[in-house]
Amino acid sequence: MQYVGGMRRAVCPGSFDPIHNGRLEVIARAANLFDEVIVAVSTNYAKKYRFALEERLTMARRTLGAISGILVEPMGEGLLADFCRERGASAIVKGLRSSSDFDYELPMAIMNRQLTGVETVFLPAEAHYVHLSSTLVKEVHDLGGDVADYVPRSVLARLAETRPQN
Ligand code: PNS
Repeated sequence: MQYVGGMRRAVCPGSFDPIHNGRLEVIARAANLFDEVIVAVSTNYAKKYRFALEERLTMARRTLGAISGILVEPMGEGLLADFCRERGASAIVKGLRSSSDFDYELPMAIMNRQLTGVETVFLPAEAHYVHLSSTLVKEVHDLGGDVADYVPRSVLARLAETRPQN
Protein backbone atom coordinates (compact mmCIF):
# COMPACT_ATOMS: atom_id res chain seq x y z
CA MET A 1 0.00 0.00 0.00
CA GLN A 2 1.24 3.45 -0.87
CA TYR A 3 2.25 5.66 2.07
CA VAL A 4 0.02 8.70 2.26
CA GLY A 5 1.66 11.61 4.09
CA GLY A 6 0.00 14.41 6.03
CA MET A 7 -1.86 14.68 9.28
CA ARG A 8 -3.79 11.66 10.52
CA ARG A 9 -7.06 12.93 11.96
CA ALA A 10 -9.75 10.82 13.65
CA VAL A 11 -13.24 11.52 14.93
CA CYS A 12 -14.63 10.11 18.20
CA PRO A 13 -18.39 10.64 17.90
CA GLY A 14 -21.07 10.31 20.55
CA SER A 15 -23.97 11.80 22.43
CA PHE A 16 -21.81 12.24 25.56
CA ASP A 17 -24.91 12.72 27.74
CA PRO A 18 -22.74 13.01 29.80
CA ILE A 19 -19.17 12.05 28.90
CA HIS A 20 -17.81 9.31 31.22
CA ASN A 21 -14.44 7.72 31.93
CA GLY A 22 -14.99 4.80 29.54
CA ARG A 23 -15.38 7.26 26.66
CA LEU A 24 -12.48 9.38 27.90
CA GLU A 25 -10.20 6.35 28.01
CA VAL A 26 -11.00 5.49 24.38
CA ILE A 27 -10.48 9.14 23.32
CA ALA A 28 -7.07 9.19 25.05
CA ARG A 29 -6.04 5.99 23.27
CA ALA A 30 -7.25 7.42 19.94
CA ALA A 31 -5.05 10.48 20.60
CA ASN A 32 -2.06 8.14 20.91
CA LEU A 33 -2.81 6.65 17.50
CA PHE A 34 -3.66 9.80 15.53
CA ASP A 35 -2.14 13.28 15.17
CA GLU A 36 -5.46 14.94 15.97
CA VAL A 37 -8.74 13.72 17.43
CA ILE A 38 -12.03 15.56 17.07
CA VAL A 39 -14.57 14.63 19.73
CA ALA A 40 -17.85 15.17 17.85
CA VAL A 41 -20.89 15.75 20.06
CA SER A 42 -24.07 14.74 18.26
CA THR A 43 -27.57 16.17 18.17
CA ASN A 44 -30.49 13.95 17.29
CA TYR A 45 -33.88 15.58 17.68
CA ALA A 46 -35.54 12.17 18.04
CA LYS A 47 -33.48 11.63 21.19
CA LYS A 48 -34.25 12.99 24.64
CA TYR A 49 -31.03 14.24 26.28
CA ARG A 50 -30.53 15.06 29.97
CA PHE A 51 -28.01 17.75 29.03
CA ALA A 52 -28.42 20.27 26.21
CA LEU A 53 -25.79 20.33 23.44
CA GLU A 54 -23.95 23.35 24.92
CA GLU A 55 -23.62 21.64 28.27
CA ARG A 56 -22.48 18.33 26.75
CA LEU A 57 -19.82 20.31 24.85
CA THR A 58 -18.79 22.20 27.98
CA MET A 59 -18.45 19.03 30.06
CA ALA A 60 -16.29 17.41 27.35
CA ARG A 61 -14.18 20.56 26.94
CA ARG A 62 -13.60 20.91 30.69
CA THR A 63 -12.01 17.47 30.70
CA LEU A 64 -10.34 17.40 27.30
CA GLY A 65 -10.03 21.02 26.18
CA ALA A 66 -6.52 21.59 27.47
CA ILE A 67 -5.03 18.48 25.86
CA SER A 68 -3.12 19.29 22.70
CA GLY A 69 -4.30 17.34 19.67
CA ILE A 70 -7.87 16.92 20.98
CA LEU A 71 -10.70 19.20 19.83
CA VAL A 72 -14.33 19.10 20.97
CA GLU A 73 -16.91 20.17 18.36
CA PRO A 74 -20.63 19.88 17.72
CA MET A 75 -21.31 17.26 15.04
CA GLY A 76 -24.45 18.95 13.76
CA GLU A 77 -27.49 17.03 12.62
CA GLY A 78 -26.06 15.57 9.42
CA LEU A 79 -24.23 12.39 8.59
CA LEU A 80 -21.15 11.45 10.58
CA ALA A 81 -19.48 10.38 7.32
CA ASP A 82 -19.97 13.91 5.90
CA PHE A 83 -18.63 15.48 9.12
CA CYS A 84 -15.50 13.34 8.79
CA ARG A 85 -15.02 14.27 5.14
CA GLU A 86 -15.49 17.99 5.85
CA ARG A 87 -12.87 17.80 8.63
CA GLY A 88 -10.41 15.70 6.60
CA ALA A 89 -10.66 12.81 9.08
CA SER A 90 -9.65 9.40 7.74
CA ALA A 91 -11.05 7.39 10.65
CA ILE A 92 -13.82 7.12 13.19
CA VAL A 93 -12.68 5.62 16.50
CA LYS A 94 -15.14 3.79 18.74
CA GLY A 95 -14.82 1.64 21.83
CA LEU A 96 -16.30 -1.84 21.88
CA ARG A 97 -17.62 -3.16 25.18
CA SER A 98 -19.24 -6.36 23.98
CA SER A 99 -20.27 -8.41 20.97
CA SER A 100 -23.62 -6.60 20.97
CA ASP A 101 -21.73 -3.31 20.54
CA PHE A 102 -19.97 -4.91 17.58
CA ASP A 103 -23.27 -6.12 16.05
CA TYR A 104 -24.68 -2.60 16.42
CA GLU A 105 -21.59 -0.82 15.12
CA LEU A 106 -20.63 -3.03 12.17
CA PRO A 107 -23.43 -1.97 9.77
CA MET A 108 -22.71 1.70 10.53
CA ALA A 109 -18.98 1.19 9.96
CA ILE A 110 -19.65 -0.44 6.57
CA MET A 111 -22.18 2.24 5.61
CA ASN A 112 -19.85 5.08 6.61
CA ARG A 113 -17.04 3.57 4.55
CA GLN A 114 -19.33 3.13 1.54
CA LEU A 115 -20.61 6.72 1.88
CA THR A 116 -17.29 8.56 1.97
CA GLY A 117 -14.46 6.05 2.41
CA VAL A 118 -13.99 6.85 6.11
CA GLU A 119 -12.70 3.84 8.05
CA THR A 120 -13.87 2.83 11.52
CA VAL A 121 -11.30 1.70 14.08
CA PHE A 122 -12.62 -0.29 17.05
CA LEU A 123 -10.73 -0.27 20.34
CA PRO A 124 -11.58 -2.87 22.99
CA ALA A 125 -12.95 -1.19 26.10
CA GLU A 126 -10.72 -1.21 29.14
CA ALA A 127 -11.87 -3.89 31.63
CA HIS A 128 -12.71 -1.42 34.43
CA TYR A 129 -15.13 0.44 32.14
CA VAL A 130 -16.51 -2.40 30.06
CA HIS A 131 -19.97 -2.16 31.66
CA LEU A 132 -20.26 1.63 31.49
CA SER A 133 -22.75 3.70 29.55
CA SER A 134 -24.09 7.20 30.10
CA THR A 135 -27.53 5.68 30.73
CA LEU A 136 -26.24 3.39 33.49
CA VAL A 137 -24.20 6.19 35.09
CA LYS A 138 -27.28 8.45 35.24
CA GLU A 139 -29.54 5.73 36.63
CA VAL A 140 -27.11 4.59 39.33
CA HIS A 141 -26.35 8.18 40.33
CA ASP A 142 -30.01 9.22 40.47
CA LEU A 143 -30.86 6.23 42.67
CA GLY A 144 -28.16 7.19 45.15
CA GLY A 145 -25.22 5.08 43.93
CA ASP A 146 -21.65 6.33 43.91
CA VAL A 147 -20.41 6.97 40.35
CA ALA A 148 -17.33 9.01 41.31
CA ASP A 149 -15.08 6.32 39.81
CA TYR A 150 -16.77 6.62 36.45
CA VAL A 151 -17.10 10.31 35.59
CA PRO A 152 -14.92 13.43 35.79
CA ARG A 153 -15.55 15.64 38.85
CA SER A 154 -17.28 18.38 36.87
CA VAL A 155 -19.74 15.83 35.45
CA LEU A 156 -20.42 14.43 38.92
CA ALA A 157 -21.32 17.93 40.12
CA ARG A 158 -23.74 18.48 37.21
CA LEU A 159 -25.33 15.06 37.74
CA ALA A 160 -26.03 16.05 41.35
CA GLU A 161 -27.47 19.42 40.31
CA THR A 162 -29.76 17.87 37.69
CA ARG A 163 -30.93 14.82 39.66
CA PRO A 164 -34.64 14.43 38.91
CA GLN A 165 -36.85 15.23 41.92
CA ASN A 166 -39.59 12.79 42.90
O1 PNS B 1 -23.08 8.07 22.06
P1 PNS B 1 -23.98 7.44 21.04
O2 PNS B 1 -25.43 7.85 21.30
O3 PNS B 1 -23.82 5.95 20.99
O4 PNS B 1 -23.56 8.04 19.61
C1 PNS B 1 -24.22 7.64 18.45
C2 PNS B 1 -23.66 8.36 17.20
C3 PNS B 1 -23.75 9.85 17.38
C4 PNS B 1 -22.21 7.98 17.03
C5 PNS B 1 -24.50 7.88 16.00
O5 PNS B 1 -25.85 8.08 16.31
C6 PNS B 1 -24.18 8.59 14.71
O6 PNS B 1 -23.23 8.23 14.05
N1 PNS B 1 -24.98 9.64 14.37
C7 PNS B 1 -24.75 10.45 13.19
C8 PNS B 1 -25.87 10.25 12.14
C9 PNS B 1 -25.42 9.28 11.05
O7 PNS B 1 -24.40 9.45 10.43
N2 PNS B 1 -26.24 8.22 10.87
C10 PNS B 1 -25.95 7.20 9.92
C11 PNS B 1 -24.97 6.16 10.46
S1 PNS B 1 -24.40 5.04 9.24
